[in-house]
Amino acid sequence: MRLDRFLCETGFGTRSQVKAFLKKGLVTVNGETAKKPEQKIKETEDAVFCNGKRAVYAVFVYLMLHKPAGVVSATEDRRERTVLDLLDTEDRRKVFPVGRLDKDTEGLLLLTDDGELAHRLLSPKKHVDKVYFAEVEGQITEAHADRFQEGLDIGEKELTLPAELEILKSGAVSEVRVTIREGKFHQVKRMFEAVGCRVVYLKRLSMGTLTLDEKLAAGAYRNLTEEEITKLKQLTGLLPVR
Ligand code: URA
Repeated sequence: MRLDRFLCETGFGTRSQVKAFLKKGLVTVNGETAKKPEQKIKETEDAVFCNGKRAVYAVFVYLMLHKPAGVVSATEDRRERTVLDLLDTEDRRKVFPVGRLDKDTEGLLLLTDDGELAHRLLSPKKHVDKVYFAEVEGQITEAHADRFQEGLDIGEKELTLPAELEILKSGAVSEVRVTIREGKFHQVKRMFEAVGCRVVYLKRLSMGTLTLDEKLAAGAYRNLTEEEITKLKQLTGLLPVR
């Protein structure tokens, strides 16, 4: 693989950022300073350091996307633009979105080809926290927060699991932060419907240990850092917690 691509894929930045590191002589391959972006390296054999940090090649790809409204969380769709259409061709590989956000929902979406991690993050048994920011028509009060805590009937066999509702602003359109531990279809919108309110804007802020990078504009994405990958694996029991 080319050295510049390798550094991008291991989380050291965009192509142009990586090229700047190379130019400044901050990259070494097996102890030798490397300046050529096109230098070929063996991903799992060569010792590559950038800015003094080892670049570790993940067999899998992990991407954090700031999903904009207007695209669907699917790998293909006959009519709609999908989240994969937002990726550079070389990043598409075999990645798929971990769970779905509605077409009009924005925010954090993890894309990966690591099926085991995806499965564990989505498993209803794992109860991974998902935090959303929402704007809701109508005045939201502590009484609503209590009902979210008690569990709501959204037309499923069972009530929803207890969810936290933090009121950021209460008014004609209220602003709230909601934490849920399930991922039922349209869950947040249906929970508000169950208390007689309508969500007019929804954005996912985090999923488990992974938080949306505020520096990512809507539609932009980046590789996860080693630390982010490790934390997700620890959360889901794929790696031991030290
Ligand atoms: N809940 C919803 O209602 N929509 C989403 O996109 C995610 C959670």
